[in-house]
Amino acid sequence: MQRVNGMPALGLGTYKRRGEEGTELIRRALEVGYRHLDTAQLYENEADVGEALRRSDLPPGEVWITTKIAPANFGDGLLVPSLEESLERLGLDAVDLTLIHWPSPNNEVALPVYLEQLAEAKAQGLTRTLGVSNFPIALIDEAREILGDGEIKTNQVELHPYLQNRALADHCAAHDIAVTCYKPIADGSVAEDRVLREIADKHSATPTQVCLSWQLAEGWVAIPTTSRADRLEENFGAQQVALDDEDRERIARLDAGKRYVDPDTAPDWD
Ligand SMILES: NC(=O)c1ccc[n+]([C@@H]2O[C@H](COP(=O)([O-])OP(=O)(O)OC[C@H]3O[C@@H](n4cnc5c(N)ncnc54)[C@H](OP(=O)(O)O)[C@@H]3O)[C@@H](O)[C@H]2O)c1
Repeated sequence: MQRVNGMPALGLGTYKRRGEEGTELIRRALEVGYRHLDTAQLYENEADVGEALRRSDLPPGEVWITTKIAPANFGDGLLVPSLEESLERLGLDAVDLTLIHWPSPNNEVALPVYLEQLAEAKAQGLTRTLGVSNFPIALIDEAREILGDGEIKTNQVELHPYLQNRALADHCAAHDIAVTCYKPIADGSVAEDRVLREIADKHSATPTQVCLSWQLAEGWVAIPTTSRADRLEENFGAQQVALDDEDRERIARLDAGKRYVDPDTAPDWD
């Protein structure tokens, strides 16, 4: 499986995968071959992810686990204990990657306060690597200053054919920060896309597979989710699809600056 900065390039998003149904879906994903699970304190499903891992019987360390710190846990002295609670729920001694889920809304907590606690969590061995999410270019640069170059493993941002986020993605690449695409299949809407369908027909694939294959070919990480076992396999199969330059150029032209996730508390986007 392709890796980017150590992370398996195709992971499973777990937002909304909760309870017994969510646990079984995640367990099934591990059976299909997924080796990267993306959870968060805000998803309230870390215990379900942990249970799926235990049911899978996979050896420890086989599955890359990412969690994210909720903004409510950014204040001085709060972050490390909150990650310890996440680990307790997951049933792990450490996660592979811990992200800052969003920049502090309206800068309520200063950036160095929560980033230094994240670095401390890594120093204590609670997380093997660290990263950020929803950070625009200016904040990436501030974070690099605080943490030191090479420390930020990834920036997880909304990225799909209709929001290609090129300036940010190029900036991350220039600093060896992997881009992780969230909402990578635009909430499933890529399945209905005419251009992706034409490319898919050429490769005997599906439009969703073409979308994910494009992200992998760009050197990004993608973490689609689904509630359906059949789609777990379809999405995982994207790794078998090889696009050509013409396909990639056609997909590049689908960019429409269409952002799905834009809460009032969001930072100034690039
Ligand atoms: N860092 C952040 O702030 C942030 C924000 C949003 C998301 N995320 C992460 O990114 C992950 C993925 O993003 P997302 O859940 O927002 O959106 P997404 O993965 O782009 O889309 C998920 C939707 O696509 C549908 N779908 C999945 N596979 C499909 C297929 N093969 N054909 C047609 N439809 C398909 C699913 O419906 P069915 O269930 O019916 O298959 C589901 O409604 C999340 O789970 C989470 O881990 C992070």
